[in-house]
Amino acid sequence: MRASRRIAILASGSGSNMEAIAAACEQPETPAEVGLVICNVPNAGVLKRAEKRKIPNLCIDHRQFESRGEFEQKMLEALHAAAIELVVLAGFMRILTDHFIEEYYGSLLNIHPSLLPKYPGLNTHQRALDAGDRESGATVHFVTPELDAGPSILQATVAIRPEDDATSLAARVQEQEHRIYPLAVRWCVEKKVELRDGQVWKDESIMSNGINA
Ligand code: GRF
Repeated sequence: MRASRRIAILASGSGSNMEAIAAACEQPETPAEVGLVICNVPNAGVLKRAEKRKIPNLCIDHRQFESRGEFEQKMLEALHAAAIELVVLAGFMRILTDHFIEEYYGSLLNIHPSLLPKYPGLNTHQRALDAGDRESGATVHFVTPELDAGPSILQATVAIRPEDDATSLAARVQEQEHRIYPLAVRWCVEKKVELRDGQVWKDESIMSNGINA
């Protein structure tokens, strides 16, 4: 039997990235199991998707807590109880404190819908359109305390079309997210990618397959 690493997915929305990663984890190439989905928004689509796939899931509503610290403590307890080794943020719309980030430092991934370092933060698609950019995309990166500034593991580029608006561009970027995020997760669980001294280290076998893959 293959050794399977336990991952958790934290999300706030529809959960299409969660679904893409969970589907990849069902394939023998990805030695990982989604042991927990945590969502901070009651009734979000990601909870329904997790339920359908029979993935243990929890709604931890941040509004029920006095402070960010208490909200995160609840999540950390759940992650520890589920013996989670890799935490994957997939459309998780809460900023994490340094305390949480340190707990999973090097084992905490995020996907951002832009070609970082361009457009950290919100409204990335509209900002790319307003700037007249010819391309946009998505970036998978390790999470470090500075928002959307952790070292990149993998990017996918999407050409911007003259007729694009933020919705049409977001849809094409999402298609690419569903391709690169499961791949980055796979590399991490295979230990072909690591965060070493604040930089991304890659195994030789994936060297040619990195930024702008
Ligand atoms: C993704 O586009 C991701 O880049 C952004 O939030 C979106 C989440 O979508 N941070 P989904 O919930 O995975 O469908």
